[in-house]
Formats: sequence, C-alpha cells, structure tokens
Amino acid sequence: MVNEVRGVIAREKGAAVTVETVLVPDPGPGEALVRVQACGVCHTDLHYREGAINNDFPFLLGHEAAGVVEKTGDGVTNVAPGDFVIMAWRAPCGTCRSCLRGRPWYCFSSRNAVQPMTLADGTKLSPALGIGSFAELTLVDAVQAIKVDARAGAAVAGLIGCGVMAGLGAAMNTGGVSRGDSVAVFGCGGVGDAAIAGARLAGAHTIIAVDIDDRKLEWAKDFGATHTINSSSTDPVEAVRELTGGFGVDVAIDAVGLPQTYEQAFYARDHAGTVVLVGVPSPDAKIELPLIEVFGRGGSLKSSWYGDCLPTRDFPMLIDLYLQGRLPLDKFVSETIGIDDVEESFHKMERGEVLRSVVEF
Ligand SMILES: NC(=O)c1ccc[n+]([C@@H]2O[C@H](COP(=O)([O-])OP(=O)(O)OC[C@H]3O[C@@H](n4cnc5c(N)ncnc54)[C@H](O)[C@@H]3O)[C@@H](O)[C@H]2O)c1
Ligand SMILES: [Zn+2]
Ligand SMILES: [Zn+2]
Repeated sequence: MVNEVRGVIAREKGAAVTVETVLVPDPGPGEALVRVQACGVCHTDLHYREGAINNDFPFLLGHEAAGVVEKTGDGVTNVAPGDFVIMAWRAPCGTCRSCLRGRPWYCFSSRNAVQPMTLADGTKLSPALGIGSFAELTLVDAVQAIKVDARAGAAVAGLIGCGVMAGLGAAMNTGGVSRGDSVAVFGCGGVGDAAIAGARLAGAHTIIAVDIDDRKLEWAKDFGATHTINSSSTDPVEAVRELTGGFGVDVAIDAVGLPQTYEQAFYARDHAGTVVLVGVPSPDAKIELPLIEVFGRGGSLKSSWYGDCLPTRDFPMLIDLYLQGRLPLDKFVSETIGIDDVEESFHKMERGEVLRSVVEF
C-alpha cells in the first residue's frame, strides 16, 4: 500500500518551502513506517533549503522528530507497532571499517529506508538526513527508530533526535567536558544551549555563553550559563580570558560554524584545551590560522557530528534525565506550530525569535 500524506518540500535552492502531497510506501523488509507526532525545526533544515548541504533537490525536510510506529516490515525485531520512538539519523551498519573497529559513532554507512518516498508525480524525494519527518508519516530503516519512554511527550522527545543530542554530545562526548572544567559556547541557539546543558550535566565549573543577541544570552542562563558575553559589542576572546584567570577555557565549542566564531573559539581556549566544531560551515567557508599557534597551543581541534552519539545508548538515557527533572527539554520549545508554518519558522529563526519551533501533527 502507498500512503498519501502532506509533507514540507524544498524544491530548489533558496526557494520558500511548500507543503505538498507525499507518497510514502508501506515498510519493506527491515523498514518501519512511523506516524510523526512532532518535529522540531533545526537550522540544518534551513541549510538544506539554501543548497548548503548538497544539491539533491527536491528535499523532504524535517529530521528532529518523535512519533509512534505504525507498521514494520519483515524481519524487524527492535520495534513494534505502537512503540513511541525518536528517529535517529545515525543507525550504525555494524559492518563498515569504523563499526568493526568498535567506533560505531563514526559509521560510514549509516542505515536508511531502501524504498523512496516520492511526490505525487513519482519524483523521488531526498529525505533530510535520511529521515524526512515534516510529514504525517515517514519511512525509515527500523534501526533508525529508537524506543523511549512515552511519558516524555513528542514535542520534547523529538528534539533529542538532532539539535539537543548534537549539542549535549559536543560537550559531553566530543569535548569530554568533566567536573571542574571551564567551557565557552559560541552561538546559543538550540544546539549551543544543549551544549551548555551538557557542560552543566558533566560538572563544568564555569560555563560562558557567547552570542550576538542579548535575548539568546538571557535564555542561555536557563540552561546553565554562568557568564554571558555579547560578541557584537565585546571582544569575546579577551572577555573569556578575563573570566578564566587570563588563560582561556578548557573546552571551546563553536555552535555557529562561521570562520569568525571558529577563530574566536580557537583563541579563547587554554593551552592544551579542546576546540569542538558542531555548527555546520557553509561549503565555501575558509579559515587561516598561524600553524605555529596550532602547534604551540597543543590540545585538540575536533568536529562533532551528531555529538558523537550512539542513539540506542543515549536517547533513552536523556529521556530518563528529562523525566527526572535534570534536563530542561521544555525550555527549548519556544512555540508549537502547524505543518504549514515551517517557512515562517525559518524567518523567526533568522530573526533570533525562537530556540525551537516544533511542528505538531
Ligand atoms: N554537527 C551536528 O551534528 C549538528 C546537528 C544539528 C545542527 N547543527 C548545526 O549547528 C548550528 C546551530 O544550529 P541551531 O539549530 O542551534 O541554530 P540557531 O539558528 O537556532 O542558532 C544559532 C545561534 O548562533 C548565533 N550566532 C549567529 N552568528 C553568530 C556570531 N557571529 N557569533 C556568535 N553567535 C552567533 C545566533 O544568534 C543564534 O543564537 C547550525 O549550523 C546547524 O546546522 C549541527
Ligand atoms: Zn558502520
Ligand atoms: Zn538538525
């Protein structure tokens, strides 16, 4: 059977998204059909619409979602119809050279549904990050569906599927923040605030939020920022040094992805510290750094894809932390919207009015 639903489509570079009929096949072997209940609007969706990820238009956007398994295909054992799940854009294959070396968070062949979702005229859609969940139903590989405690509610649970996991993991997994560390986070959107929350959970002592928008800096305090710097009016490198005895932070996280913020993170870190790039740069962005500084400062320069997470390990754990009151997921949800409001939510994101708009179905 083919299911007819409405979905948010980016047809061409830079064009406003449209809501169109999408045909979603019933699950084949190893696949799961998920009824999407909520899906957050992540900046990466906007990057897709801008053609900054790749050129495989048309895209079915949306990738930060939770819902209920509707049907499963042959051979599926990890989930069953009725299960409440968060969808993951990393589903380690188990057989690539990285998985075989015991590093599944670097899997080179993450699994996705085999059957395509299409427009009504049969045009194949590229689902954002292999998910495509700004639609009432979506088709994924069953191992992309991670069962979690349904008491969390879809609007907050879905956020773990991308931005919150990426930010928390950038601090806790990639950056290895631990008790007593000092941390600076550049860019306090959904991803940056999750990095702040992660730094707090990991026991960081000083957590410095840097943004160009005072409203974002106010919100960052709710997630655990101990200090804030508006980098449009203050030199953030100098200010970070002042707050850390003249040395800089142990871990500097760039949650924007601009050459300028990367350089700030690079120079705001202490000797032997760690820089983590979790913001996604545009394909033409370049940086120039004195090589002697790269060498002389020691430490490490790392990138964080999806917070180096393992969804099967991390998603249920983060939902438990939320249910215990230790991870304020509700504070990320600035508004809930309908599927027709995604284009407007991009503009709200650009104007800095929201941390997360969440589409509810
Ligand atoms: N690596 C991953 O796995 C992963 C996952 C999800 C999102 N991302 C990326 O993370 C980035 C942030 O995503 P988001 O959803 O939080 O976006 P967002 O738009 O909600 O937040 C970006 C924040 O950066 C701030 N900012 C912009 N320019 C700045 C500057 N020059 N200096 C300081 N702050 C500045 C904005 O004011 C805003 O608060 C995006 O590039 C997104 O694509 C990466
Ligand atoms: Zn693999
Ligand atoms: Zn995302």
